[in-house]
Amino acid sequence: MAQVFIANPKGGCGKTTIAVQIAAYYAGLHQPVMLVDHDPQKSSADWLRERPKSRPEILFSSATVGETVAVNGARCVVHDMPAAWSLAQADGLIQRCDKVIIPVLPSPNDIRACLHFVMGLYRSGFLGSGVDVGLVANRVRGNTRYFSVLEEFLQKLRLPLIGVLRDTQNYVNAMDGGLSIFELPASKVKIDLAQWEPVLAWLETSPSPAFE
Ligand SMILES: Nc1ncnc2c1ncn2[C@@H]1O[C@H](COP(=O)(O)OP(=O)(O)OP(=O)(O)O)[C@@H](O)[C@H]1O
Ligand SMILES: [Mg+2]
Repeated sequence: MAQVFIANPKGGCGKTTIAVQIAAYYAGLHQPVMLVDHDPQKSSADWLRERPKSRPEILFSSATVGETVAVNGARCVVHDMPAAWSLAQADGLIQRCDKVIIPVLPSPNDIRACLHFVMGLYRSGFLGSGVDVGLVANRVRGNTRYFSVLEEFLQKLRLPLIGVLRDTQNYVNAMDGGLSIFELPASKVKIDLAQWEPVLAWLETSPSPAFE
């Protein structure tokens, strides 16, 4: 069983968007997957409530940060983290975490906030404890100047950029109906499916594949 955390204390960087895409992707493969909403705003819970009953099932649990969750047979557990939580609360998480995805927007403020978060992960011993950490640049538009700033920053941190997702209403439209982009007509989301390929490949890499 593998646990994947989607985390970045910066609000609005795409944690919920990415968490639900991953959960729906595995559900679509008929894998037993659970989505855990750690956010009092309950955005993942709201999304799941809208999900048509005809779509592949996603198990659900809500939890506070650091709380242990009964996984009820799920073999992949995707954790949607809130914006506000402190690494001091994360001791319990470190033990149980296999992969962390950090979504980051290519803007100066977001890059700065991400840098603080990653430094906190280093200091807390989270990084270097065998957990795979990967960054996803989210809402990237063409040749934004800040995209190259982001790439430079990642090279310095020696953290992998596991994916680049464009800014598109496809995510908004899909999520409005409790769906993911993996459940929209392929002709509409061709570019997005291609952008997800490296992220999904990273999730399946050893030593901690998201599905075991
Ligand atoms: N790639 C994208 N293209 C277009 N819109 C996006 C994309 N990713 C996220 N969004 C939109 O950006 C907003 C914030 O995304 P989301 O709620 O996933 O962020 P979050 O990190 O979970 O926020 P919070 O910190 O409040 O939990 C939402 O309105 C979402 O629809
Ligand atoms: Mg959220």
